[in-house]
Amino acid sequence: MKILITGGCGFIGSHAIKEILSRESTEFIVNIDALTYSGQPENLIGIEDSRYRFVHGSINDRELMNTLLRDYEFDYVLNFAAESHVDRSIDSVAEFIETNIDGTRNILEAILKMESNGKKIHLIQISTDEVYGSLGDSEPEFIESTPLNPRNPYAVTKAASDLLVGSFVNTHGISASITRCSNNYGPNQFPEKLIPLMTLNAIEGKKLPIYGDGMQIRDWIHVSDHVKGVVALMDAVSDGTIESGEVFNFGASNELSNIEIVKKIIALTGASEDQIEYVRDRPGHDRRYAMGFAKAEQRLGWTPIVDWDRGLEETIGWYSKNDDWVNSVRTGEYRNWIDEHYG
Ligand code: NAD
Ligand code: DAU
Repeated sequence: MKILITGGCGFIGSHAIKEILSRESTEFIVNIDALTYSGQPENLIGIEDSRYRFVHGSINDRELMNTLLRDYEFDYVLNFAAESHVDRSIDSVAEFIETNIDGTRNILEAILKMESNGKKIHLIQISTDEVYGSLGDSEPEFIESTPLNPRNPYAVTKAASDLLVGSFVNTHGISASITRCSNNYGPNQFPEKLIPLMTLNAIEGKKLPIYGDGMQIRDWIHVSDHVKGVVALMDAVSDGTIESGEVFNFGASNELSNIEIVKKIIALTGASEDQIEYVRDRPGHDRRYAMGFAKAEQRLGWTPIVDWDRGLEETIGWYSKNDDWVNSVRTGEYRNWIDEHYG
């Protein structure tokens, strides 16, 4: 397989690159990443594989995307590139519209162009459970046919790009799939997201800022399970067992409230509950996400395998031991965000 990965220097994309390079069937991977604040080349340190090549550039660059697709004749494009943080989308949505919607459009048009030249490329659009909206405590989990009801600016841009992908399948006949996964955790996640932020603050004796009442629920999945799901989907596409346009949910049936997670991090790091600070709630905060992923189990033969207790302990261990990584990602831009957002 010849694969283009976009956003491969980010959290999930970098894990996907390592997973895919571990497979003999991978002929080569090209990683295009714009290296925004969350794109960290350090996430890929140590990869010495002649099948891997990095291109510093944006998915919004039409000429670059056309050239890459023409020169490398990829079988797959895995689109991980995105603006991914909900709080930032509340402050300013422009970059989210540019990358998540317009960047996806640019990829779709480049694929269409290749198709008109006789080369079929399958796009896997990496989306999110947030496109389904928010659940009440006793509502059933999201399934693939749950209507889209995104409620924050980030989620709207992800839903829009999903719909755009669907429209290119329907009207232009391109080959594509969409994955929607729940909250990922694991090594290399940018420390603006709940688990790495709280872990580092706990270790450093800083405040642990919990939005609102801390009773919001997410369905936490280890990043290695997510990327294995994406790989299983590529294999199903290659085997011809799924149709273009299909959507697959990934989750882990691991619903936890934010306060439960923070208390667990406190226990594992030896921090103090006095560090907990309840702060102003995220505006429009989604209350609960829960994913139904029976379709992926049945059709892709995939299931999440990482045990939460073990996964969290190892993840906390990783952030405690990797000072070089932590220091290099906490750049001036990161410090500005923390100062502005948390005051
Ligand atoms: P991330 O912010 O860690 O990484 C995003 C990457 O995209 C970075 O390397 C960044 O430099 C790159 N990028 C941004 N704009 C770009 C552009 N215009 N061109 C090329 N590269 C660009 O995000 P993540 O958490 O790894 O998320 C990856 C994808 O998975 C996103 O599409 C996100 O919506 C989706 N997702 C994330 C989660 C989660 O829990 N983190 C869950 C479900 C789905
Ligand atoms: O559900 C999938 C989504 O998960 C992905 O699509 C997004 O890219 C990813 O960022 C993540 O979104 P969330 O908003 O759920 O994740 P975040 O880590 O920002 O927050 C998780 C929960 O923790 C949420 O209820 C808000 C809360 N929170 C977060 C931060 C950063 C706090 O209480 N305090 C904080 O400081």
